[in-house]
Amino acid sequence: MAVKRPSGPQGSLILGSANQFRDDEPNFLLESVKKYGDLVYFRLANMHTYLVGHPDLVREVLVTQGDKFEKARLDKQILGKFLGNGLLTSDGDFHKRQRRLAQPAFHSKRIQNYAEVMVDYANKIMAGWKDGAVVDITEEMMHLTMLIVSKTLFDADAITGSGDTAVAIANAMHDLQAVSNRDYQRGFSLPSWVPTADNRLRNKAAAQFNQVMDQIIVGRRQTAVNGQVEDTGDLLSMLMLSVDEEGEFMNDRQLRDEVATLFAAGHETTSNALSWTWFLLAQHPDVEAALHEELDRVLAGRQPTLADLPNLPYSLQIIKEAMRLYPPAWILNGRTALTDVAIGGYTIPKGSTVFVSPYVMHRLPQYFDEPDAFKPERFTPEIEKSLPKFAYMPFGGGTRVCIGNAFAMMEAQLLLATIAQTYRLAVAQSEPVPYKAQITLIPENGIQMRVVMRETAVSPTSELAFA
Ligand code: HEM
Repeated sequence: MAVKRPSGPQGSLILGSANQFRDDEPNFLLESVKKYGDLVYFRLANMHTYLVGHPDLVREVLVTQGDKFEKARLDKQILGKFLGNGLLTSDGDFHKRQRRLAQPAFHSKRIQNYAEVMVDYANKIMAGWKDGAVVDITEEMMHLTMLIVSKTLFDADAITGSGDTAVAIANAMHDLQAVSNRDYQRGFSLPSWVPTADNRLRNKAAAQFNQVMDQIIVGRRQTAVNGQVEDTGDLLSMLMLSVDEEGEFMNDRQLRDEVATLFAAGHETTSNALSWTWFLLAQHPDVEAALHEELDRVLAGRQPTLADLPNLPYSLQIIKEAMRLYPPAWILNGRTALTDVAIGGYTIPKGSTVFVSPYVMHRLPQYFDEPDAFKPERFTPEIEKSLPKFAYMPFGGGTRVCIGNAFAMMEAQLLLATIAQTYRLAVAQSEPVPYKAQITLIPENGIQMRVVMRETAVSPTSELAFA
């Protein structure tokens, strides 16, 4: 019997809508929902794709019927090549076990210890800036969040020759992500043994990354006392100390996959959130002035601490609104239906792919008036509470919701407060700043910004240690 499908863009006979999708993925999806409604069907070559564009349907896919889906094969193929079977790419019982084992590392008490590290590194980055100089803010933010994730994940400073180690890991990760982005563009990923230039680059980078990670893990095991590794305060210690119901620890391979996953998922996302925040602030002097007022009133020249965050609500609203307009994870990993699934009055046949896109949800006028305008006032607690769940969803939802959500929000708020206390950032280029939808939503060519010291600037201090 013919499948009854929701309507959607027709596309061409062979490629379906692949070319239109590739031209501008986020807006292709957004316009499709606006034109065809809450559930859209289209084909990307031979991939039967359903896009959900209503908060209730998002809930169906991620929560109510979440167990009828798994991560799509293409995502597992591409990301799995360097993240192995880590939290982002695994499924089913294995994912459940790993998530339970990793959860204690993200306990609020634990991550709160990282607040000082975050502020210290922001100061360290600013120490390299000169008043009035132009920097590529995307590079600066990427470097900053990379330093923070290396420190909080595996205490990079403590590793002998840590400067080189951190650079080697960062370079390897950069190459791995670049190759993965190109695979997504192509829409397929050749097996690793096929000797293409990209495969060679990926295999080399993966080997480098794995070698460093293995060294770190072996080093930790060697210093264990009575089989118990020492808790050095970082996330890796916690992952190594965690046991499942059977009393089993993660083995070295699992640890490596999880560390790679946290490293990859945990810095480019936050860095993009901040880059877009600086860009938006520079274009909205009224918002910038209100931010400065809040920082000066609450901190009065002090470095921000964890305890200050509840008293800086406007800073938080700015970050939330920037992530609404430019959600770093503009689309969740595709979901493959494991069985026929009834959603929104249609049956999504087994094997089809379902897309959920924070970018689409965040720009729907039903939930956000003037959806393209930057208005942090939307995120006062009262207004935010009135939004339907899943109309705003930068961290996804359900059992696969971002495990680093609280970490990322604390980091973004602290970095914004620390830097905005000292510098104003102004756009220093006449060219427009388009986005590029890669694994994350990045400013395509970076953003040149002039850093100008504020009169009320605090002098940066730096002492890097866990609290
Ligand atoms: C602003 C920053 C961030 C954003 C916007 C973000 C967004 C997301 C989203 C949307 C997902 C769900 C993906 C899906 O359902 O397909 C996710 C998952 C994940 N994120 Fe984040 N993330 C951020 C920061 C972080 C940080 C700082 C970490 C760790 C240190 C992290 C680690 C992870 C992991 C491990 C997963 C997979 C969770 C699972 O499936 O169990 N993320 N993130």
